[in-house]
Amino acid sequence: MNNEQRPVLKNGHIDMPIDESINLCAEIDNLRKKKNAVILAHYYTTDEVQKIADYTGDSLGLAQQAAKTDADIILFAGVHFMAETAKVLCPNKKVLIPDLATSCSLADSINEKALAECIRQHPGHTVISYVNTTAEVKALTDIVVTSSNAVKIVSQLPKDERIIFGPDRNLGAYVKKVTGRENMVIWDGGCHVHDGFSVEKLRELKAQHPEAKVLAHPECPQAILDLADHIGATSYLLKMSEEQPDNEFIVATEPGIFYEMKKRSPQKTFIPVPSKSGHPLNMCVNMKRNSLKKIYLTLKYEFPEVDLPKHIAEKAVVCINRMMEMSK
Ligand code: 13P
Ligand code: SF4
Repeated sequence: MNNEQRPVLKNGHIDMPIDESINLCAEIDNLRKKKNAVILAHYYTTDEVQKIADYTGDSLGLAQQAAKTDADIILFAGVHFMAETAKVLCPNKKVLIPDLATSCSLADSINEKALAECIRQHPGHTVISYVNTTAEVKALTDIVVTSSNAVKIVSQLPKDERIIFGPDRNLGAYVKKVTGRENMVIWDGGCHVHDGFSVEKLRELKAQHPEAKVLAHPECPQAILDLADHIGATSYLLKMSEEQPDNEFIVATEPGIFYEMKKRSPQKTFIPVPSKSGHPLNMCVNMKRNSLKKIYLTLKYEFPEVDLPKHIAEKAVVCINRMMEMSK
């Protein structure tokens, strides 16, 4: 398709009327087969998006799926840095994103200029970046980590290694505590969702449901983690909800995960932790920007596409591959 045939983007996505009578799931299915496309969706997207995905997963699982797919097109329903990671891993594939405006408050809390200055101020440090960063930040990074493998990877480094860890202050503090590393410079960034759970409401829920176990993502602050029974990445929390014998769980991560938790354990009860502002469902608005209509239009027009300067992608792939190796 040449540039003139491309639909116009509005607020990062194709915004055009479609025939309301069409069956979007069936149309998406036809397009995916016709174009040999795979749809990857994060556990925080809406139920309807998770339902039509070929694979759902956490950020590590989806990066691994992207790396091994033989599809010609990857449609990534998540947030922008995740689609970018898929593009870095698969430079010769077309990586589509239903909405370019799917930012992430954590990825936005660091940029390459500020990280370069931090590196200048801390010579001899190993730079470890959370996967929730732009490709430009990754290009300055020695090793990427996700919440699934951060502890495992940092533990493999010598005890006295000097580390810059960013951008999540809560994950950084958690990794420092669990691995006992002293020499960690931790970036002061955070995720508005995981930073925003109410400790007070969590205490109330625990009192109301004394049998329930608390599951928490390590992007949550220490005051939340102190009240948790199991701490880990989205896929780990999912595994605990399925494998532990308990019937009730209070969950301190993005509530999109309830779709998969209920699918795997329909007999169990999952209770969300409200936000500090009192909202009963503390959601990631960026993840929820992925809709069936946007996925349909994006597959149809093969647009918008994630593109990266070659020199950035070539640098970023080194630290992502190091993560893949170290998390085996
Ligand atoms: P996961 O690594 O658990 O998928 O977390 C990604 C994320 O964005 C958490 O907010
Ligand atoms: Fe980013 Fe937080 Fe949303 Fe995860 S939940 S994508 S860290 S804003």
